[in-house]
Formats: sequence, C-alpha cells, structure tokens
Amino acid sequence: MKNVLVVSGHTDLNDSVANKTIMEELAKLLPSAEFDYLDKLYPDYKIDVQAEQAKLEKADVIVLQFPVFWYSLPSLLERWMEQTFVHGWSHGRTGDKLKGKKLVVSLTTGAPEDAYRKDGMGYGIDDLLAPVIATCTLCGMEYAGRVYTGDVSYATRSDAAALADMKARSAVHAEKLAKRIASL
Ligand SMILES: Cc1cc2nc3c(=O)[nH]c(=O)nc-3n(C[C@H](O)[C@H](O)[C@H](O)COP(=O)(O)O)c2cc1C
Repeated sequence: MKNVLVVSGHTDLNDSVANKTIMEELAKLLPSAEFDYLDKLYPDYKIDVQAEQAKLEKADVIVLQFPVFWYSLPSLLERWMEQTFVHGWSHGRTGDKLKGKKLVVSLTTGAPEDAYRKDGMGYGIDDLLAPVIATCTLCGMEYAGRVYTGDVSYATRSDAAALADMKARSAVHAEKLAKRIASL
C-alpha cells in the first residue's frame, strides 16, 4: 500500500469553495492518506521543518493542492517548499530524501480553462508549472502529472447557481485526482 501525502497550500480554507471541497471529497475517497493543511498548521508562516520533512519522507506519492494566485503557487505553499526542501536533504550531493517519490499537482484557477492557451493568454496552464516540474527534476522526484479545474473564481461565489456548479465540478476534480493517485 503506497503512502499518500496531500499538502493543501491554500492560505485560508475558511475562505475557499473549490480547494475546500476537493480536500473534503478527497478525504472521503482516500481515508488512509495523510492530509497536511498548511493554513491550519502555519497561519503565522512559521513552518515546522522537521515535522514536514518527516511527513514527506514517509510518503510515496506527494500531492500539492492549491489555487493559482498570481500565476504561481500561493505564498504559504511557496514558503513551505523554500523552508522544507533544504540542500543536503532534498537535493545536493547528499540530498536524496525525495528521490523516487511521485509528485502530483492539483490546481484550480479563477480564469476558465480555455483562457490558459497559447493563443489566449499567451501561455498554457503547464507553463505555470515549470518551477514545480524543475524542482521535481532537481530532487529526483517523478512528476506524475496534474489535475486541473478552472473557472472557480471567488468573484462569482455570490451567485447560487455558480456556487453549486463550482462545488459539483470540484467534487468531480477530487474523483479524478483519487483515480490518478490510485493509478500510480
Ligand atoms: C490573490 C489572488 C490571486 C489570484 N490570481 C489568479 C491568477 O493569477 N489566475 C487565475 O486564473 N486566478 C487567480 N485567482 C483566482 C483563484 O485561483 C481562485 O479564486 C481559486 O482557484 C478558487 O479556489 P478556492 O475556492 O479554493 O479559493 C486569484 C485569487 C486570489 C485571491
């Protein structure tokens, strides 16, 4: 049985629809996975590096769950990575603790999926993931792809129909993600 660690990088899941739904549904679908809620653990951004490294060392599959903020990872997830992936632990001559692990990216955007096209915004959603994929390569991890849902903007949450649709598509996202994890 593989060990799965799901790291939620949303800065405030109390103010979330998509990521909150995905995490809730995934917890039902993968009861044996470990769920790391960075916003609950580190509202002050003071990452417990040893604790996070221990969770990562135990995992065979690591899932990064986050909303795209300014075409990038949310600051809390970025901070978690900056602090936890240390030279000599994750990379460098003696840094092999992440080697061979599989990494899945699970992300949401406010803009619709078809906005992220070369002939739309000028770049695709995978272009935004270049730093994560490069990190995988540096640390000897296998990038195991992404599950992506767009059009879950916080700006349209006050519309009841849009909100219900967002929740339904987030639940479908969680199912796809669980299948992807199971296939690894
Ligand atoms: C600070 C901030 C920056 C954002 N930047 C982007 C962005 O660059 N591209 C985009 O498509 N959506 C952007 N969004 C929208 C979020 O990605 C969207 O609201 C989120 O995926 C919805 O997930 P949630 O319901 O879990 O919060 C941004 C939202 C916030 C609050």
